[in-house]
Amino acid sequence: MPSVLITGANRGIGLEFARQYTAAGWQVIAANRTPFAPKDFASLGYDIVEFRYDAMDDKSAAAMAGRLGGRPIDVVIINAGISPDEDLPPEAITPEHWQKIMLTNTFAPLHLASLLEPNLRAGDGKVLAAISSLAASATLYKLPRQFAYRASKAALNQVLRNLSIDWRDWGCMTVALRPGRVQTRMSGFAGDLTPEQSVSGMREVIASLTPTTSGLHYGYDCQVVPW
Ligand SMILES: NC(=O)c1ccc[n+]([C@@H]2O[C@H](COP(=O)([O-])OP(=O)(O)OC[C@H]3O[C@@H](n4cnc5c(N)ncnc54)[C@H](OP(=O)(O)O)[C@@H]3O)[C@@H](O)[C@H]2O)c1
Repeated sequence: MPSVLITGANRGIGLEFARQYTAAGWQVIAANRTPFAPKDFASLGYDIVEFRYDAMDDKSAAAMAGRLGGRPIDVVIINAGISPDEDLPPEAITPEHWQKIMLTNTFAPLHLASLLEPNLRAGDGKVLAAISSLAASATLYKLPRQFAYRASKAALNQVLRNLSIDWRDWGCMTVALRPGRVQTRMSGFAGDLTPEQSVSGMREVIASLTPTTSGLHYGYDCQVVPW
């Protein structure tokens, strides 16, 4: 049975990843700060394990990695992310605001990836994916504000690119995924894609990743997103 670890699987895009992978017969390891709602947990069936994981707390990441031991994991999907106070103008941005977003969206994925390297090495899939955003694309994104969020997702893309080079020798493939604008709490449920549509596209990208396509930013529509 292939296995996937998903951060922030308790709601939104992460929950939909958990739904689709369990339905496809995968073992799902959920790394959640907030536990699943009981009805969601029940609907996911038996092949799911839930760990407490807070991206802002290094110790919770280390504790989870310790409990996983050397267990092989085929695919790691770093999905947990935040985008608070998107409308702040430059003069209102504080170090605290910047730090919280960068720690959650950029440092935590790198830290968790490093802790799970032995698990990825032991798995057959060797795929590290993280949920990025069109907001990371200097070429395509034209909307104002979102300073810290855009910087954090652009930096996340560089982390994944970097790991695709650093870990190429043992066959690890990485991908930054653009989910599109999805109907979740983050978008105020105002997106033009359902989680089902977005996640089925991103699962296709993950499934078709090759060493040649590793390290790039791909959309839910299976198209490369320019940097
Ligand atoms: N929705 C969109 O249109 C859109 C577009 C582009 C990119 N994205 C990206 O997609 C990813 C998922 O977002 P979503 O749309 O599904 O939003 P969401 O419904 O707000 O879900 C965010 C998830 O991240 C988790 N999370 C936040 N901070 C965390 C922390 N410190 N530790 C552990 N988990 C934490 C949340 O857990 P709690 O329940 O504990 O808060 C929740 O599970 C994010 O990385 C986001 O940037 C979304």
